[in-house]
Amino acid sequence: MLREVTYQTAAKIAAVAVLTVALAATVRAADEANGNPVQAQIDHGKSTYASKCSHCHGPNMMNSGTITPDLRAFPDDKTRFVTTVKNGKNNKMPPWADILSDDEIGDLWAFISSRRKP
Ligand code: HEC
Repeated sequence: MLREVTYQTAAKIAAVAVLTVALAATVRAADEANGNPVQAQIDHGKSTYASKCSHCHGPNMMNSGTITPDLRAFPDDKTRFVTTVKNGKNNKMPPWADILSDDEIGDLWAFISSRRKP
């Protein structure tokens, strides 16, 4: 009896987990169907930015009066972006190669590109 209850609970938890994954996939597919393929990347990049970059670069990508550049004005140059983020720059911008995956850096690029000033 007890064993049966435990089994049912486990089955319910598994069902919820499957639904959660399916829902996430649906949201992503919906973004793509909307002609908005990078929205999921932008959202993910935004949260990575908030936890890893904003304390130096500012919550809005600019930190006037400090040594960090305004990232909204960063040129449309993904290679330079990825290189700087991975290797750091001038011992002031820290290197992230050991901390962030290529996907995470790609998502950061999607987020920062989405805020570029014209
Ligand atoms: C410890 C503070 C600090 C953190 C954290 C930090 N940066 Fe920087 N970043 C800097 C400084 C300082 C510079 C300017 C370096 C220079 O030009 O000498 C810079 C420069 C840059 C540049 C311009 C590079 C170029 O080629 O001109 C980019 C892009 C950048 N950061 C992205 C990021 C991203 C993305 C993150 C989060 C993963 C991040 N930074 C986290 C301090 C930081």
